[in-house]
Amino acid sequence: MKTVFKLQFILIFLFFMANSTKGITGNNNTRDAILLTAFGTSVQEANSAYDNIEEEFRKAFPDTEIRWAYTSTFIRKKLRERGKTIDSPAEALARLGEDGFDHVYVQSLHIIPGSEYHDVLNVAERFNRMPEGLKKTTVIEPLLYSDDDMHAVSNTLIENIPQERKSNEAVVFMGHGSHHAANIYYPGMQYYLWNKDDNLLVGTVEGAPTFNDVLEKLKAKNIKKIWLSPFMAVAGDHAKNDMAGDGPESWKTLLEKEGFQVQPVLKGMAEYDNIVKIWIDHLKSHKN
Ligand code: CO
Repeated sequence: MKTVFKLQFILIFLFFMANSTKGITGNNNTRDAILLTAFGTSVQEANSAYDNIEEEFRKAFPDTEIRWAYTSTFIRKKLRERGKTIDSPAEALARLGEDGFDHVYVQSLHIIPGSEYHDVLNVAERFNRMPEGLKKTTVIEPLLYSDDDMHAVSNTLIENIPQERKSNEAVVFMGHGSHHAANIYYPGMQYYLWNKDDNLLVGTVEGAPTFNDVLEKLKAKNIKKIWLSPFMAVAGDHAKNDMAGDGPESWKTLLEKEGFQVQPVLKGMAEYDNIVKIWIDHLKSHKN
């Protein structure tokens, strides 16, 4: 009788142990985590955009572990030299596996499904085939993926234009641009914006449409004043220097030389909650 009682006690004890190491965070018995995966930035002030993303995701998924990874090797190295270590997606996934998580939702915080996004898919796919560690990884779409996203993001961009902008003034959204085929999302976004407002233009630093494409349109439209806004998650190096900088090559300088009045808006898209909500909605469509 005594040993049976002891055995029962041990079994109950083991049951609780097993549950506490496995955790009970998910809706079922798996331990979920969210890996916020961004390009990264080395510009200190630009971090406010990432802070806002984290805050909004924590509000939307209060019971889920949330961690970060940066996809840019260059940015990670630069931060490391300043004593700040941020994991690559592979490092973060390995660590989450070691820490006992089962299912990781890798949220791509990129704008387009370009090369950075496809690299993340590749890494996650390899983790799915590992014999130990994580049971599953699911990569969640970047900001622009579906037709719905194009509608939602174009509406949001318009909502976020400063109130002072008049309808005969242009707003130029400066995107990064890519050599990847997914660059098509930039001229794609131009189409959605033009269906709503003729004076909204999309240009990119490294892809199409180019700065000259934008300049040509501005001249043809006889525009006097231009609002310059980053079409990037953070107002980082490109926004500060290539867009709004005082150097001879910045869009601001080049446009002023052409006689336009230029008003830069140094705010990354991820600083706006209505943009972050679109990423959150992507995740919600995969995770309950
Ligand atoms: Co760049």
